[in-house]
Amino acid sequence: MSSIEITTHNFIIRPFERKDLVKFANYRASESVARYQSWADYTYQDAIKLFESMDYATFGAAGQWYQLAISDKSNDAIVGDLAIHFIDAEQVEIGFTVAPEFQGKNVATEAISGLINYLFGCLGKHRIIATTDTRNIASYKLLEKMGFRREGHFIKNIFFKGEWSDEYQYALLRSESKII
Ligand SMILES: CC(C)(COP(=O)(O)OP(=O)(O)OC[C@H]1O[C@@H](n2cnc3c(N)ncnc32)[C@H](O)[C@@H]1OP(=O)(O)O)[C@@H](O)C(=O)NCCC(=O)NCCS
Repeated sequence: MSSIEITTHNFIIRPFERKDLVKFANYRASESVARYQSWADYTYQDAIKLFESMDYATFGAAGQWYQLAISDKSNDAIVGDLAIHFIDAEQVEIGFTVAPEFQGKNVATEAISGLINYLFGCLGKHRIIATTDTRNIASYKLLEKMGFRREGHFIKNIFFKGEWSDEYQYALLRSESKII
């Protein structure tokens, strides 16, 4: 598999480009976005490092993570991003972030719907999972809205920002989704 482009009503979900990195670094650095993530004080240099480490030519390779930009169709500006981890040939883990100024406007709903359709409908994957901090209400409510089932509550399983935290694991099977 080479590269990827998912088109939804308002967005194009595509590989990152260098022009995305200033905005990407800015929203990753914001306190509300970083709150339940492993990073703090995210910099432009961090964004460049991540960008340069990604090889979209291998998109779909088992064991690899890929970051995709959610870009506004009208001007190709980045409004958020999706992360895809190909766990093995059949299972995928996803992550998602929307820049604070675009939150609460259905961006994640539309982008993740497009991603689910792509992963189940085009790639024929069997199962998608997502993990979220149990205090990240927006994140788990979003997953539940998208039809994901909560199938695990890990107790103090992850140490970051000076404390042990709990995580929920969510999953969605192709047979449970609208795409079969
Ligand atoms: C989680 C996140 C991606 C949601 O993006 P968004 O574009 O604002 O989400 P949407 O507008 O599509 O909302 C979808 C659903 O998510 C839930 N939701 C979103 N924001 C919420 C909030 N502040 N409080 C509670 N539920 C919320 C609701 O169920 C909402 O559906 P509804 O509007 O029908 O009630 C966004 O808040 C974000 O980027 N957070 C910071 C990064 C992060 O923590 N990512 C998750 C890592 S696991």
